[in-house]
Amino acid sequence: TAKGLKDYYKSFFPIGVAVSPYVLRDSATAAFIVKNFNSVTPENAMKMGPIHPEENRYNWRDADAIVDFATAHGIRVRGHNLCWHEQTPEWMFYDKAGKQVTKEVLLQRLKDHITTVVNRYKGKIYAWDVVNEAIDDDSTQFLRNSMWYKICGEDFIAKAFEYAHEADPNAVLFYNDYNTERPEKRERVYRLLKKLVDAHVPINAVGLQAHWSIYEPTRQELETAIKKFASLGLKVQFTELDISVYPWEKNKRELRPGEDMSYSDERKQKQGDQYQMVFEVFRKYKKNVTGVTFWNISDRYTWLDGYPVPGRKNYPLLFDKNLKPKEAFWRVVNF
Ligand code: G3I
Repeated sequence: TAKGLKDYYKSFFPIGVAVSPYVLRDSATAAFIVKNFNSVTPENAMKMGPIHPEENRYNWRDADAIVDFATAHGIRVRGHNLCWHEQTPEWMFYDKAGKQVTKEVLLQRLKDHITTVVNRYKGKIYAWDVVNEAIDDDSTQFLRNSMWYKICGEDFIAKAFEYAHEADPNAVLFYNDYNTERPEKRERVYRLLKKLVDAHVPINAVGLQAHWSIYEPTRQELETAIKKFASLGLKVQFTELDISVYPWEKNKRELRPGEDMSYSDERKQKQGDQYQMVFEVFRKYKKNVTGVTFWNISDRYTWLDGYPVPGRKNYPLLFDKNLKPKEAFWRVVNF
């Protein structure tokens, strides 16, 4: 195509993509990214484990490579992420004797981490996912029982935002989570965000990850989520969009006997319908929606390959494994 994906959305919002340094080293892929996207999110390179593997050692190489690439091409960068229950280095929660640290020590470590990382990319990273996925998966619980929560209680959330704001007062600060269109999770995320906003915590926006499927969300669920979160005065971004061609079932790790995992015409059609619908909604709420980022570039590689069902290939993106636009691409750009 002559135009890149981002060009169709010039008057709406930036179109982003999750990247790793190795994809940028391939010149064809790098050119493809520059053509189609005007925002990038490091898929893993800025997470606490990879970037801060030991207490007194930071590993900037991969994160720098992504930021340098983006800066050189006038692409904006979303930082991902500053505090999460996954990909956190073991040392964070223990002292030298192997004993769990106190709340005071852990908050100091969190502060050191956030200050150092945010400072390094000040002026180059315009937005940060400050806290990622703090709400529990179990609908009867509120916050996830992570090490952060076990040691600090709820306070780590507000503190993380304060530390990030202190380090870069101009950065747009996000709470980021998944399944935010499912009514019961939506309500718990809303409850958390409302608490933060009411307490004047420096939070600006909510990231709805958008790991969706050809079966969900519905148009109504999606619109309700946007309106509900925007009513708090927060901007909304879709930060990790992909549309799985299989149903998302909780804890489903195996195929049922006879279950079809082909990328059939029916699945392709449904995927096109779903992509068209969600982008119609994004455009309708362009006042609230300030960005849409895809979680990976094309069906050549997606984190959904083999997840949650080992060995199963997925096809959740707009471009095929040869970087050619799929049916779903045309459904997103023809409006
Ligand atoms: O880098 C190591 C490598 O050294 C090692 O040999 C290899 C063996 O397993 O693992 C490599 O690390 C993997 C890493 O991706 C880099 O490829 C981890 O095992 C793997 O768990 C990790 O997966 C990432 C996942 O977050 C971590 O939980 C995915 O790439 C990444 O797409 C995914 O992204 C998350 C968002 O950050 C938050 N929202 C959900 C989303 C999807 O899970």
